[in-house]
Amino acid sequence: MIQPQSKPVTLAALPYPQNALEPYLSAKTLNFHYGKHHQGYVDRLNALVSETEFADLKLEDIVSAAAGQAGKTAIFNNAAQVWNHNFYWRSLSPKGGGKPSGELAEKIESGFGSYENLIREFAQAGMDQFGSGWVWLVKDGGILRIAKTSNAGNPVSQGLGTPLLTLDVWEHAYYLDYENRRNDYLTTMLDKLINWNFAAENFGGRQYAPAKDK
Ligand SMILES: [Fe+2]
Repeated sequence: MIQPQSKPVTLAALPYPQNALEPYLSAKTLNFHYGKHHQGYVDRLNALVSETEFADLKLEDIVSAAAGQAGKTAIFNNAAQVWNHNFYWRSLSPKGGGKPSGELAEKIESGFGSYENLIREFAQAGMDQFGSGWVWLVKDGGILRIAKTSNAGNPVSQGLGTPLLTLDVWEHAYYLDYENRRNDYLTTMLDKLINWNFAAENFGGRQYAPAKDK
């Protein structure tokens, strides 16, 4: 009997052209970051799960099934990096920056004291993350928090809450444009590109799923 062929995980489409985030993130950075690094995680993941029990799972199910499993670290790392990058690209927008509004803004005000405090805490968490990782705004039991994860760490699989936004603090995210100035990258992303509409959708409980993933 012929078994149905498993479908590989695909690279989700960027929600904007590669030069759309200039001058704050260059097309060159997106060409490497999306076209080489993100694509590389997709390719390695597909090679790792081929002909395994993970082969037919959706991306988010691979992340949760491999999390914390002995011998599945490489699958988790590559799957989580695919998911985290999908989420990262949507956390940025050419029309981003500015301040959030509505219920999310009220929650930020009550949780952090002010929008400015949130931005300060977010950037500081990015600076405090030693080595590679991610900074997240998460909703945890109705409370907003800043969270950090190392390497491929993902807030859902670590029980840190529902992600609303993320910034990638791996050097490959900023080195071509900002060299070693991670703080400049973080503050510019938060000031000019961060996508509060995406955060508000996630805050409102919309289930995030990249359109091009199986
Ligand atoms: Fe990255």
